Formats: sequence, structure tokens, C-alpha cells
Amino acid sequence: MSTDFASLQNVLVARDGHLAIVTVNRPSKLNALDNQTISELHTVVVQLEADDTVGAIVLTGAGEKAFVAGADISVLAKQGVLDGRDNARHGQVMMSRLENCVKPVLAAINGFALGGGLELALACDVRFAASTAKLGLPEVSLGIVPGYGGTQRLPRLIGTGPALQLLLTGDHIGADEALRLGLVNGVFAPEELLPKVKEIARRMVSRGPTALALAKQAVRRGAHLSLEDGLQLEADLFGMISSTAEMKEGMAAFLEKRKPSWLRS
Ligand code: COA
Repeated sequence: MSTDFASLQNVLVARDGHLAIVTVNRPSKLNALDNQTISELHTVVVQLEADDTVGAIVLTGAGEKAFVAGADISVLAKQGVLDGRDNARHGQVMMSRLENCVKPVLAAINGFALGGGLELALACDVRFAASTAKLGLPEVSLGIVPGYGGTQRLPRLIGTGPALQLLLTGDHIGADEALRLGLVNGVFAPEELLPKVKEIARRMVSRGPTALALAKQAVRRGAHLSLEDGLQLEADLFGMISSTAEMKEGMAAFLEKRKPSWLRS
């Protein structure tokens, strides 16, 4: 399937082999998320998921300063109760769509990831930060609470105590502290960030595509289940993958001491 992203205003999509590099592109506003940008990100995720030539998505921010510096405060400043709730749901729906994308999604956090920017990164599968990045949920310092999933995904990722410290102080933390908390998976020098994240993404893409989708599904759906139900889900998915040509190719390649050849366009 070919995709046309030329009409997008605030999001750039570039291809590098089987990788799609998605860049939030409002550098003059430190890539803050307004409604247009959120809608464009949603469209991009849906289209990239449907594109068989795309194996993984790398998400980053334009410029050297910011990944995404939050929801657009000029929009938030005008909202009332009902549109405030609608704005939160608009961002949440996009981020859940990203989280449930069947392909791996990697965040390359190249600068500020604050508020909605950190929430966007939290909806990705893995996060890597430039050593200069600053992360945080500063909403309480603006007299609001996170609305794009931060109160739910952050404690699930790093635990309630550390999450509440970040939520209640509104502090920005550096990349090394984020690594210590398990908020990011790795830290790289700024100029190495994108090449390293692409290298990790390519390693993922070299694995079985259905296996990647099912492994992700097991973790994502399992997070909402009891251990027993999660184990049942895992066994069902394990049975399902055993019916695929992909499994036969993976096993045959191992036994024949060659690289597997996956069915990817
Ligand atoms: N929403 C809207 N605009 C934003 C923004 C946001 N979340 N974050 C930055 N901007 C805009 C600034 O208003 C400024 O625009 P202007 O040049 O038209 O005045 C531009 O981006 C550059 O930001 P600036 O504040 O001048 O850069 P800085 O280097 O001095 O500070 C930050 C960088 C990230 C510390 C600061 O911009 C900031 O605190 N942003 C808000 C972060 C936040 O609270 N996010 C959560 C929102 S819920």
C-alpha cells in the first residue's frame, strides 16, 4: 500500500528502508501538540500500520530543542469543562491507537518531553533519550492535571511512588535520572540518538512480523488481565502463531543455519 503524507502540516513522515520516521514538526512552538497535530499523528499511525512495507515506526521531534514540549498551552488556556474533556479524549484516543499499533513504535526523545510530550512517549513501546533531554509532567505548575494518559501510564511504567513524585512536583528530570527510573530504555549522545534508535528498530524489523505483533499484543492486553488470564492469552497466541508459515520459516532457517526470509514486501 502506498501512502501520501504530503498534505500534512505539522507531521513529517520519511522512509528509511522498512522504518518510518515520524517527526512532530512545529519547532517554533517546541512541537507542542495542538488538535491539528494530534489528528495528523492519528492519521499517520493508521496509515503506517496498514502499509505492509513498514516494519517499525520511530517517533521524534523537529529541531534540536524539543521532542514535544506538551499540549499546546494556548489551546488549553481557552478551554472550558466540556471542550477540556473533549481535548483530553482526542489526545487519549490517538495515543491509545499508537500504543496498540501492531508494529513496534520507538520514541527518540531528542529534547524536552514535557506534559503531552512525555505522555506521547509513554504510549510508545520503548523510549530512548538524548543525554540533553528533559522529561516531566509539569501540568500541576499550570494548575491542571495530565489529560493524555500520564496519570495512568506513568505509574504503570515506573511505579506509583516515583510517578507521584514527578506528577506532584511537576519537576523536569534529566535523561540519566529518567534511565534510573526506568522511564527510558537508554540514553545516547544527541548526535547518536537517531542512528542508535534506528539500529534498534532495524533489529526488531529483522524478526518475524507476526511474532512482533503478537508479542506486543500479549503484553498490551495482558496488562489489563489477572496473571492466570494473561497466561491463557499467551498460550492462545502461542497456539495461533504455530499455524503460520512464519513459524515454519523461522524454525527451518534455524535448523538450516541460515537467516529467515520473512514475508515482508
Ligand atoms: N504550548 C504552546 N507553546 C509552547 C509550549 C507549549 N506547551 N512550549 C513552548 N511553547 C512555545 C513558547 O510559547 C514559545 O513561543 P513564542 O516564541 O511564540 O513565545 C516557543 O515555544 C519557545 O518556547 P520558550 O518558552 O521561549 O523556550 P525556552 O527554552 O525558554 O523554554 C520550556 C523551554 C520547554 C522550558 C518552556 O517552553 C516551557 O515550559 N514550555 C511549557 C512546558 C509545559 O508546561 N508543558 C505541559 C503543557 S500541559
